[in-house]
Amino acid sequence: MLKVKGITKRFGGLTAVHAVDFEVKQGEIVGLIGPNGAGKTTFFNILTGIYKADEGTIDFENKPIQGLAPFRIAKSGMSRTFQNIRLLKDETVLENVKVGMFGRTKSGLWSAILGMRASRVEEEQVAELSLKAIELVGLNGFEQELAGSLSYGNQRRVEIARALVANPKLLLLDEPTAGMNAQETKEVDDLVRKIRKNGTTVILIEHNVGMVVGLCDRLVVLDHGEKIADGKPEQVIAHPKVIEAYIGKTDEIDETDESEEEVNPIAANS
Ligand SMILES: Nc1ncnc2c1ncn2[C@@H]1O[C@H](COP(=O)(O)OP(=O)(O)OP(=O)(O)O)[C@@H](O)[C@H]1O
Ligand SMILES: [Mg+2]
Repeated sequence: MLKVKGITKRFGGLTAVHAVDFEVKQGEIVGLIGPNGAGKTTFFNILTGIYKADEGTIDFENKPIQGLAPFRIAKSGMSRTFQNIRLLKDETVLENVKVGMFGRTKSGLWSAILGMRASRVEEEQVAELSLKAIELVGLNGFEQELAGSLSYGNQRRVEIARALVANPKLLLLDEPTAGMNAQETKEVDDLVRKIRKNGTTVILIEHNVGMVVGLCDRLVVLDHGEKIADGKPEQVIAHPKVIEAYIGKTDEIDETDESEEEVNPIAANS
């Protein structure tokens, strides 16, 4: 479904992503992990067209997509959520989820403004699809609440519903459990399984290694922009390079903060 070859992205003198090969098969749940600053979000930004790669190719469903505008890539069936929640906090949950359909409807924004009949029919369809997405993420009853009044965990769910409303083939989740407690994390785990069951392939960036090991079919590890491991979760987290990448990170923390508790980096949550 997705075939990335030799993707490189530089910011001035910094190579944020370096010669990364990455493949996803239809129906997979793939975890993208790695220490802070490894290049995970940058990689998502390249896939979704927010950044143009300096080198490399990306094929999505056998069509090249590198260099296309974000809305074109979205239209081809790729949706995402953001590491930092991006919601219209003063709009309702329903309105926020509807946004996920903009640019996807035939009659588009102008006819919507002009109130033409076709767009009214579409408006109803958009509302219906949005309500379905809201139900899927378990937010029924919250449709008319203001997004900004929801708990952090529920705001993340609104983001996921917005990404799901157009029924994407591939969903990219950037740290969907950040800031969540164990119970909420478990619910996201269940939700991702449900999304895959509904026919959407998923790539998720996660710091909760315990969660991704149980959830994902495969893990890919980035460190300093390079792919250092790719394979079955249990094998990947036992890989010496992966352990070193994570221990390197805790060593840095220990140097700056003596009071930092010693943690098993592989088992630690974020
Ligand atoms: N727009 C940008 N301009 C300059 N540097 C950037 C930009 N975006 C990211 N970087 C740098 O690229 C590197 C990779 O950042 P990125 O956000 O992709 O990491 P990440 O793996 O998502 O980290 P985290 O786990 O903290 O979210 C970092 O050194 C970051 O400072
Ligand atoms: Mg990130």
